Amino acid sequence: MTQQQSIHGEWSSKLAFIMAATGSAVGLGNIWKFPYITGENGGGAFVMVYLICIALVGIPIMMAETMLGRRAKQSPINALKALSQEAEAHENWHYLGWLGVTAGFLILSYYSVIAGWASAYVFKSLSGAFSGQGSAEIKALFEQFVASPLQLTCWHSAFMAVTMWVVARGVRGGLEKAVQFMMPSLFLILLILVGYAMTTGHYSQGLSFLFAPDFSKISGQSILIAMGHSFFTLSLGMGAIMVYGAYLPGHVSISKATLLVAGADTAVALLAGVAIFPLVFANQLEPSAGPGLIFQTLPIAFGQMTAGNVIGTLFFILVVFAALSSSISLIEPMVAWLIENHGFKRSHACWVAGAAAWLLGLGTVLSFNHWSEVKLFGHTFFELLDYLTANIMLPVGGFFVAIFAGWVMLREHSESELEMSPMFYEIWRILVRYVAPAAVFVVFLSVVGVLAP
Ligand code: PFF
Repeated sequence: MTQQQSIHGEWSSKLAFIMAATGSAVGLGNIWKFPYITGENGGGAFVMVYLICIALVGIPIMMAETMLGRRAKQSPINALKALSQEAEAHENWHYLGWLGVTAGFLILSYYSVIAGWASAYVFKSLSGAFSGQGSAEIKALFEQFVASPLQLTCWHSAFMAVTMWVVARGVRGGLEKAVQFMMPSLFLILLILVGYAMTTGHYSQGLSFLFAPDFSKISGQSILIAMGHSFFTLSLGMGAIMVYGAYLPGHVSISKATLLVAGADTAVALLAGVAIFPLVFANQLEPSAGPGLIFQTLPIAFGQMTAGNVIGTLFFILVVFAALSSSISLIEPMVAWLIENHGFKRSHACWVAGAAAWLLGLGTVLSFNHWSEVKLFGHTFFELLDYLTANIMLPVGGFFVAIFAGWVMLREHSESELEMSPMFYEIWRILVRYVAPAAVFVVFLSVVGVLAP
């Protein structure tokens, strides 16, 4: 490849890349989405499918995406153009970059709304709104909150503005600094919550809901959701990891970095589940409560534990930071492309992309109140957007990344980028050429009904 370094700058160290990629991966997907979709899809068997997808599909594709980014050192659309030229393949491959940029933009529109909920909860916790409240009051508090489009819009606007401000400051200035201190703190506070969950008397019920598989509860649909979530949670299939890979210096081991990131991401999701489900059962709540699950369960714990206001406030602050370090990666591919292809200044690119995503986010805001009965195929605006992006666009994007890295890119190029031992390289190659694409394909077929279980 011709370029030595990305025009957007480089990470200052290997640790900075690991932190930023972990920042992208760990977010609302782990703390908000994983528990509620696990609750909606019956628990243990769903978790098992999710873990298998992470290991056999997610990790190899994450290595592939990082490698493609690092080799091309450009935004996903241009990276795929350059790499397909290098491999003498059809230039249509760059549409894969487009798919990713679009998916990131669509996800950001609703991600910011939910991150806005977490931001509002920082202040609710701080003001003592959860103190001594029972599950019914906490549920009512949440329902009143989401019923107000004005409040949701204000928080959504604030979160989007902060995201764009961070992205505008660029790779080293903004992205890197934002993530370095929050990951360890988030981990710590989740451990405190798990400790509290142990005192509820329903700890083992929570654990068995999460880890004892009951395969009668699983369908083709829930397998698709588990697979889609493995892409969502690792930020795959849309170029976020590719664009971070583009800022990676040449000497860093992609495989080790990827394993660390995927390990941390999975640990956070499982810890969130272990903290939340005992509370669900201890308070006779429904595991299938949907997107409000963490907002209806954790505040009960904060309202009852010693120093709960402080711990609750800290927790929601960390969730907002985790969301922020993910949202910046959702829009970075689009921003990098606006800079590369349209000569935008970084700050202008941010404001244009952010304003458009903000506007679309209003649809999600309304889908929790005025439009909650407006449904297409039985789904609200938010549900459709989530389904389309997480369960369709990301797996399709990931499928083609795997095909590109496994079949189109020359073997000597992937071998030299990945620098793995011959045995691990062969394993990666088999996973990326056969296992990952076949898994995505079969899951899609089964949902379309061709192989309906
Ligand atoms: N991985 C993030 C999460 O789990 O919250 C969400 C996300 C970020 C998805 C970036 C996709 C992406 F490109």
